[in-house]
Amino acid sequence: MSPATRARWEAAFKKISGGLIRGHVSGAETIAQLDALRVNLLGRKSALTALLKGLKDLSIEDRRRLGPRAQALKAELEDLIARRRRELESAADEASLERLDLDLSLPAAVPARGRLHPLTQTLQEMAGILSLMGFSWAEGPHLETERYNFEALNIPKHHAARDLQDTFYLADVGLLLRTHTSPVQIRSMESARPPLRVICPGRVFRHEAVDAAHCAVFHQIEGLAVDKGISFADLKGTIQAFLQRLFGADTKTRFRPSYFPFTEPSAEVDVRCIICGGSGCPACKRSGWIEIMGAGMVHPNVFRAVDYDPQTWSGFAFGMGVERVAILRLGVPDIRLFYENDLRFLRQFDESIV
Ligand code: PHE
Repeated sequence: MSPATRARWEAAFKKISGGLIRGHVSGAETIAQLDALRVNLLGRKSALTALLKGLKDLSIEDRRRLGPRAQALKAELEDLIARRRRELESAADEASLERLDLDLSLPAAVPARGRLHPLTQTLQEMAGILSLMGFSWAEGPHLETERYNFEALNIPKHHAARDLQDTFYLADVGLLLRTHTSPVQIRSMESARPPLRVICPGRVFRHEAVDAAHCAVFHQIEGLAVDKGISFADLKGTIQAFLQRLFGADTKTRFRPSYFPFTEPSAEVDVRCIICGGSGCPACKRSGWIEIMGAGMVHPNVFRAVDYDPQTWSGFAFGMGVERVAILRLGVPDIRLFYENDLRFLRQFDESIV
């Protein structure tokens, strides 16, 4: 290559790399100006691009020497432009924040944390114990038919439980609001073959006068186990273990004969009063015992209603109120407090959901 070509190249390089260009970049006042400058300096038609293209007319040694210088210049200009761009952008951000009149140094408002309702906490704890004992969760509808709520549970037409006094009927559609979680026993048995072990937690409805101990809407947990050779001893052992996990290892339990149409024999289960320890107090009406659930062996007619052979299968069922357990464990004096959504009450049971 002729020295003349190289001299021309070096002169052009000097011109571009002179301080003037850098001054242009840092002098750009707007992003638009900077963009235009970038096209001028680095674009396809720029002097620098021509310079890089011109390298091919130089000798191989000159190319080796001068090429890297041209590349370094290009990189430097790109870097300068990018830096100026960031400066302009953050200046624009600051200007717009100033216009917004926003004080970013103010402490942020702390969002309120949600917490589980004490009834949900109680229900989950009860269900958790039973699930460790091998029971799985089943749910059913609040609106039920007479068949699921009564008939299949061996509650005959004239039975007092069907009384309008207790049951909310939806006259127009021929349905009712379930009065207990026992219909889910029937639904569970219909949708599976034995053996099975389910718990059915949920809301139930009774046409009752509301007072400190009664609500028209409350919650129950139902338990059902069906297998070959299940006996009353299995029922007692299961319930005893459950109540000891729930109320403490030294909890005493008592089974009293009772009556439910869907179990035979039936029992009412009491726990030694956890308030007074059995010596007698207002909570246990001075009896030393608190009634906690109904239970019994599944009635053969219930098995027949779901087409299980009562000669082959036996089982036990139990049902209890969640509010009652919560009242005892949390020391709540009035069931209505659970339904008033007063945060001063609810905040006392602080189990946050993060
Ligand atoms: N369903 C009964 C009630 O609501 C409770 C119960 C369930 C009793 C299962 C025995 C067996 O009172």
